[in-house]
Amino acid sequence: MAKAAETTVPEVGLDEIVALCKRRGFIFPSSEIYGGIGSTYDYGHYGVLLRNNVKGEWWRAMIGERDDIVALDSAILQHPRVWEASGHLEGFTDPLVDCRTCKLRFRANKLEDAQCGRKPSKHPGEFAECELTDAREFNLMFETHVGPVKDTASVAYLRPETAQGIFINFKNVLQFARKKPPFGIAQIGKSFRNEITTGNFIFRTREFEQMEMEYFVPPDEAPQWHQFWMDARLRWYTDLGIRADNLTLRAHGPDELSHYSSATSDIEYLFPMGWSELEGIANRGDFDLTQHAQASGEKLEYFDPESGEAYVPHVIEPAAGVDRAMLAFMVDAYDTEEVEGRRRTLLRLHPRLAPVKAAVLPLVSKDGMPERARETYREVRAHVPAEYDEGGSIGKRYRRQDEIGTPWGITVDGQTMEDGTVTLRDRDTLEQERVPAEGLGDRLAAKLAEPWRPPKLD
Ligand code: GAP
Repeated sequence: MAKAAETTVPEVGLDEIVALCKRRGFIFPSSEIYGGIGSTYDYGHYGVLLRNNVKGEWWRAMIGERDDIVALDSAILQHPRVWEASGHLEGFTDPLVDCRTCKLRFRANKLEDAQCGRKPSKHPGEFAECELTDAREFNLMFETHVGPVKDTASVAYLRPETAQGIFINFKNVLQFARKKPPFGIAQIGKSFRNEITTGNFIFRTREFEQMEMEYFVPPDEAPQWHQFWMDARLRWYTDLGIRADNLTLRAHGPDELSHYSSATSDIEYLFPMGWSELEGIANRGDFDLTQHAQASGEKLEYFDPESGEAYVPHVIEPAAGVDRAMLAFMVDAYDTEEVEGRRRTLLRLHPRLAPVKAAVLPLVSKDGMPERARETYREVRAHVPAEYDEGGSIGKRYRRQDEIGTPWGITVDGQTMEDGTVTLRDRDTLEQERVPAEGLGDRLAAKLAEPWRPPKLD
């Protein structure tokens, strides 16, 4: 893996990714017709399909390929005491300073990255007129009220991480899942943080989705499981096509650790804005179960029948973001090249991540080709997600599919009408082979299961 210090230059700018996402309907700024609401995004058709595939691959790695992890879907609204016990009410804060002159608010520990509201643009505090307040702690949790009365008794919070829903269900799962440590509970769901500094497209938003797994282990096994999950999670990204040189593992320094963590390493990716966190893998020790046991009065421990003793398991937590993973997969897959004098843009996504696996295209909209192509389309889509498209020139239709990352293009042409064969075009090599239309769905399903290597490595 490359080291963060040896910074390689990102290959693609964020603007190009944003433009492609808009052009092809992956992601739109939210509430756009009202001028937008900062750093909030809506996912369109291909965005939803790509997101679902990212989440599907995570579930596959957690549940499909293992039998020591079970799934959970806990509520976004939880008892406010959850956040008291977890330490979020007290410690989930950012230090903020206000500028009394320009009335803007900045993260005290990120002033060198912030822009003052005045022109020419400088950092806060650099103009003679700047009047910055002392730093104050600002809680990042979104507050709301449950029920019709808005008073302190009705205060509730939108969860800032999915993890706590897992800890408070530890006892339920232990009872019903018939598991013993080491075992894990996995969950995907929305989390909310009133981030002060947002930006970089979907990298940091106030509403986002997390994929978190809490792995409960005997205390003396925690370090080895921490290492196991760091290796496993790095492999997940490379198996799905992210080039290893664009990933690095960085251990947190003591001043960076979250209030619950005794050791955390981040998987960082070389995003267009530089090396940034993609996923955190923390050793949370017994912090959370102990806190919730004390606050709730429930015993949250495992009774080991072999030793005859009960103990509080330690927790290893790989915590990933769906949106960040999706951005990293798109950035790594984005490519442009010159083909026969024309520029083509494409997403060289792993076929399992591609929103659409195959596009069925009649060469022209006449001579029975659309009808024949629809027949093939029906057969193919019974096996893999597919699209039918007969609008516009064949070149334009291919360009559209390249930009959404469709790995295989199937063209029905004059020869199909004679001998039942079609052309099968490969997104990455542009090679075309002539294959029978019959059985094509099966053939593509088999291709989807084959090992895959990022074409940019060749
Ligand atoms: N339960 C531990 C936890 O929440 P975290 O490092 O704060 O740890 C885990 O978050 C992952 O969630 C991050 O690595 C990132 O991928 C994603 N994430 C966190 N805050 C985010 C935000 N504001 N916008 C988008 N993704 C975010």
